[in-house]
Parts: sequence; structure tokens; C-alpha cells
Amino acid sequence: MSRNFLEINHMKKSFGDLEVIKDISLTVKEGEVVSIIGPSGSGKSTLLRCATMLEKMDGGELSFLGEKAAHEENGRCVYASRADLKRIHKHFGLVFQSFNLFPHYSVLKNIIDAPMTVDGISRKEAEARAEKLLAQLGLSDKKDAYPYQLSGGQQQRVSIARALALQPKILFFDEPTSALDPELTGEVLKVIRQLAQEHMTMIIVTHEMQFARELSDRIIFMEQGVICQEGTPEELFSSPNARVREFIGRVMNV
Ligand SMILES: Nc1ncnc2c1ncn2[C@@H]1O[C@H](COP(=O)(O)OP(=O)(O)OP(=O)(O)O)[C@@H](O)[C@H]1O
Ligand SMILES: [Mg+2]
Repeated sequence: MSRNFLEINHMKKSFGDLEVIKDISLTVKEGEVVSIIGPSGSGKSTLLRCATMLEKMDGGELSFLGEKAAHEENGRCVYASRADLKRIHKHFGLVFQSFNLFPHYSVLKNIIDAPMTVDGISRKEAEARAEKLLAQLGLSDKKDAYPYQLSGGQQQRVSIARALALQPKILFFDEPTSALDPELTGEVLKVIRQLAQEHMTMIIVTHEMQFARELSDRIIFMEQGVICQEGTPEELFSSPNARVREFIGRVMNV
């Protein structure tokens, strides 16, 4: 039996009167790749931001590798202590749509900075780790470049290298290719595909239907803050409910 790497139970999140996440439960096992699809505004990024603790949930439970990050007490969401959260944070990494590299740092410094400050490893070890990742991602010749000197696809690959340098157990991606031109999308998808082959546990919000279909163990269709349908790619694409059929038809015809 593989372990539960991520467990979300009854997550709720509102912004003022707007209930964005109504009641979402989701379990991801070790080595699983789960894609999240759904219309704009359905709450996909909010789900990811709450799962990665960039936003606080209003209700529900959140655990990583069996360690509780948040639970509900008397109808309120209570987070673990700072020390516990710091440890739990090391279980996962996050890659954004907009790369979010430090513009005034070289590629190498972007990658070694967090391992040195967060993990406390030596510069030598951090550089060795970074150089290995850059080689894997086909970026060895860019280690001294600055982000503005790179294409979007290269910047996104550096962001992935930066996340991997912290050796997370789980990687979250929020539309990793939607800021890229179609010809640069492929090189980023290739890296994610390679990570899937290495059994990295990943949760990927994406509009790339073919990619989600080919790569995912499970696809989740979100709408208006709830999971409207979920299943294997075969299940979702061969017997979509009416909403999923309409959505897939729309995004695959644009
Ligand atoms: N910080 C915030 N404050 C107020 N409202 C927010 C905030 N973040 C998100 N929302 C609202 O929550 C809803 C869901 O947003 P979210 O970004 O999660 O959608 P999404 O599914 O990721 O959409 P997209 O596909 O366009 O990225 C939207 O109506 C959005 O305006
Ligand atoms: Mg979003």
C-alpha cells in the first residue's frame, strides 16, 4: 500500500461573501499524478494556494505524509505550530504560472539560495545539486545567465529546478505552461513528463487536456468550488458528465 502524501478533508475558503472552495476532499498517494481542470474562477488556484499554505483555509483538514498541518476545532481551522509547519513545508514545492524567479539573481543563485538558507546545506553541496538539476533539465549552459536573458520556457525550467533543489516529496504546479508560447510549452511539459516517469508525486492545475489525459493517474474537474467529477483519464474522457463534456469540448476546440 502506498502512503497518503497529501490529504485534504472538507476544505473551505471564502473571500468576504464569496465562497470559493465550498467543500473539497482530496487524497493523493505516493507517486500519483493528479491533474485539476475546470473553468476560470472555479477555485483551482485557491485550492492550490490553500493546500500549499499560501492562504489559510476557513475550515477543513490538511496533512502531508501523515503529518497534520491543519485541523478543525469547534468549527474553526487550527494550524500546527510554527516549528511543525516549517518542517511540513519541506515536504512540498510549488511552481507558478509566472515563474517568479528573482530577477537580480543568476540562474545558479536562484537555485542554490533556498537550499542554503532553508536547508542549511553548504554552498558547495548546493551548487553540486543545482548543477545536476540544470544538466537534467538541459540548462547547464545557462547557469550564469540572468532570468531576463532566458526564454519563458527556460525560465520555467529554472523554476522547476529551483523547486526540485529543495528535494520535495510533492510538487504542485499552477498552470505551468499557460504563460508560454505554444512552441515553448512542449519543453516544460517534457520536464514534467520526465518527473512523472521518476514517480514524483504531482498535483497539476492545467488547461492542457491532452497532456493531463496522457500523464495523470487521476483527473479532477472543479466547478464553483466543488469537485464536479473525478476519475482516471479513461473514465473522465469516455464517460464525462454533461458539465465536463461541455468544458472539454470548449477548451479542446479553441
Ligand atoms: N485574494 C483574493 N481575494 C478575493 N477574491 C479572490 C482572491 N483570490 C481569488 N479570488 C476569487 O476566487 C475565485 C476563484 O479564483 P481562482 O483564482 O481560485 O480561480 P481559478 O480556477 O484558478 O481560475 P483561472 O483558471 O482563471 O486561473 C474568483 O472569483 C476570484 O476572483
Ligand atoms: Mg488559477
